[in-house]
Amino acid sequence: MKKVIISGTGRSIPRLCITNEEISKYVDTNDEWIVSRTGISERRICQEEEAIDLAVESARKALKSSSINADDIDMIIVATMTADMATPSMACMVQKEIGASKATAFDINAACTGFIFALSVGESFISSGKASNALVVGVDTLSKYINWQDRTTSVLFGDGAGAAVLTTGNQSGIRSFYTKSYGDLGCNIEVGGAPIREIFTGKLLREKHPYISMNGKEVFKFASFAMIDAIENVLDKGQLSIDDIDLIIPHQANKRIIEYASKRMKQPIEKFYMNMDRFGNTSSASVAIALDEAMEKNIIKKGQKVILTGFGGGLTAGAVLVEF
Ligand code: UT7
Repeated sequence: MKKVIISGTGRSIPRLCITNEEISKYVDTNDEWIVSRTGISERRICQEEEAIDLAVESARKALKSSSINADDIDMIIVATMTADMATPSMACMVQKEIGASKATAFDINAACTGFIFALSVGESFISSGKASNALVVGVDTLSKYINWQDRTTSVLFGDGAGAAVLTTGNQSGIRSFYTKSYGDLGCNIEVGGAPIREIFTGKLLREKHPYISMNGKEVFKFASFAMIDAIENVLDKGQLSIDDIDLIIPHQANKRIIEYASKRMKQPIEKFYMNMDRFGNTSSASVAIALDEAMEKNIIKKGQKVILTGFGGGLTAGAVLVEF
């Protein structure tokens, strides 16, 4: 079995920054509530950009930092729940823009766990010899599904993209991954779809909620269990203990969920990378953006063992254990 390594990363975030102060001009909330309940101070929101612009910029940066040419990419996986169009897929659009003409390209949707799922799919193709170099992108622009009058969701999310290049290496690399879906809990996070209408009259038969709706308390409970469960599973498969891990990069949904995990696993909070204060919850992009930041800041050093972990809509959860 070949070792699959992360050879480069990149990220892209929209220009427009919306602070808690600004949101509180439009909806009944305040900076104190948002910061104390979530850890979020501001988020970036697309205005002139679309998801494809963010996806392509993060992909180009990841390719540059990996020194692999677009020509040598034979698989592109984009994790997203907010594709610009139903077809072509975001992955095919990225392929066109970067000129990766040899690649098979497709999207997957595992909501906020999307980047973890996409890494595990890429790893499986490469380790089994069915692909050589994969580009994995996590991108979401949930702002287009937000009801800006709903204070229970509008303060939480931001837009962004992050990417990683997977290729083969000798010693280190992805040691284990774990993914799990909980379809019976899916109703706790829903982002609607087109309403169903009678075929010729156009009469409305079934309305679908056009905006994101979430049972925050249930998701909080789920996350507190599912993220730790995923971490324990990758440790078990990778034959390591939590004390062997140098850094954990969790999904950036809520600082309190991460604090809970830190206490339950008896690990210092400094072991958990956090940037939700600046970006909010960017869904499929969240772990990818945090990984790229940690690489850029040289927080992750050669030989270190890092767990990437997420949870979200579906419901879904997962983790990847990487040795850098
Ligand atoms: O990637 C997707 C994963 N999603 C998540 O991870 C979300 C997980 N859940 C959470 O992060 C938290 O449940 C929330 C941040 C969404 C909510 O925090 P909470 O501590 O569970 O608050 P709550 O829903 O129990 O609401 C407490 C109070 C309520 O008022 P009453 O009924 O006590 O009078 C809410 O109406 O806070 C009120 N509230 C707000 N107040 C000011 C809810 N949203 C706001 C707000 N500003 N933005």
